Amino acid sequence: MRHLITVKDLSLEDVNAIFMLADSFYEQIDSRPIKKVPLLTGKTVALLFSEPSTRTRVSFELAAKRLSADTVTITQSTSSMKKGETLEDTARTLSQYGIDLLVIRHSKAGAPDIISSLGLFPVVNAGDGKRSHPTQALLDAYTIYREYGKIKGLKVAIIGDILHSRVARSNFEILRMFGCRIFVLGPTSMIPSYLPEDVVRLENIEQAIEECDLLYFLRIQFERFNEREVVDIDTYRRKYALTRERFEKIKKRDLRIMHPGPVNRGIEIDSEAVDSEFSLVFKQVKFGLYVRMGILAYLLSERSEEIEVPY
Ligand code: CP
Repeated sequence: MRHLITVKDLSLEDVNAIFMLADSFYEQIDSRPIKKVPLLTGKTVALLFSEPSTRTRVSFELAAKRLSADTVTITQSTSSMKKGETLEDTARTLSQYGIDLLVIRHSKAGAPDIISSLGLFPVVNAGDGKRSHPTQALLDAYTIYREYGKIKGLKVAIIGDILHSRVARSNFEILRMFGCRIFVLGPTSMIPSYLPEDVVRLENIEQAIEECDLLYFLRIQFERFNEREVVDIDTYRRKYALTRERFEKIKKRDLRIMHPGPVNRGIEIDSEAVDSEFSLVFKQVKFGLYVRMGILAYLLSERSEEIEVPY
């Protein structure tokens, strides 16, 4: 049984296989009026979300439905977890209904491992606390590959609240796997002390614009701040935000900008940049659906190399 808890659960071959499936699904299905194939008919995918989500929850649900799987959604506030049922007992209960795979988002780092250790069904981590968001990293890498035609060797600057970001951690792992050079920039209070050795700290955002190929902005995760953490938004914007003035330099260098969403418009990126042709923000959203179809198809097939995408 295979799980996807962190990027480290995947080899480069696994990632390539998922990207090939995403390519097939995107190229063959996206333009069709009826966007559905029978690949996972008879399978059931459960979505357990105990933190807010739009992109990840909707795209996983649509991915399962477009592959003809049945879906069931469980939220913390409307399930018996609200009455004190443990995560383990929730998983054991779902397994009695013949669940084939569980997608879980949870505020607690390690929650997906608690369920995967029960060995009931494959578990896909849709974001756990500050630790890991492997499917976001996969869709980010896939978006880069679609945009640049390659990933290897690109210089990527990750800018903002790295301390609270599971997206940053998972992107460090996947970008390193593809041989990117990774740079970070943010307030000292938002840069973790454990940064991987090969990650380089930048001095300022101008350096990122001048020296990197791609700028990846992160949302300030106010909801993960403890009571001692504060940020002055004016200072943050002056030093780290993609303002209209900086966007002029981005255009001159023909750089691309990314963000996992949701975007705090006017804080980390100004609207003019988010909505521009230099922004990959909504391409990330679109490709996320096809990458998640690839992940489900890959994990739910017995022999992934034998998957035939039925068109
Ligand atoms: N990027 C991301 O995980 O977005 P959602 O929280 O909307 O799923």
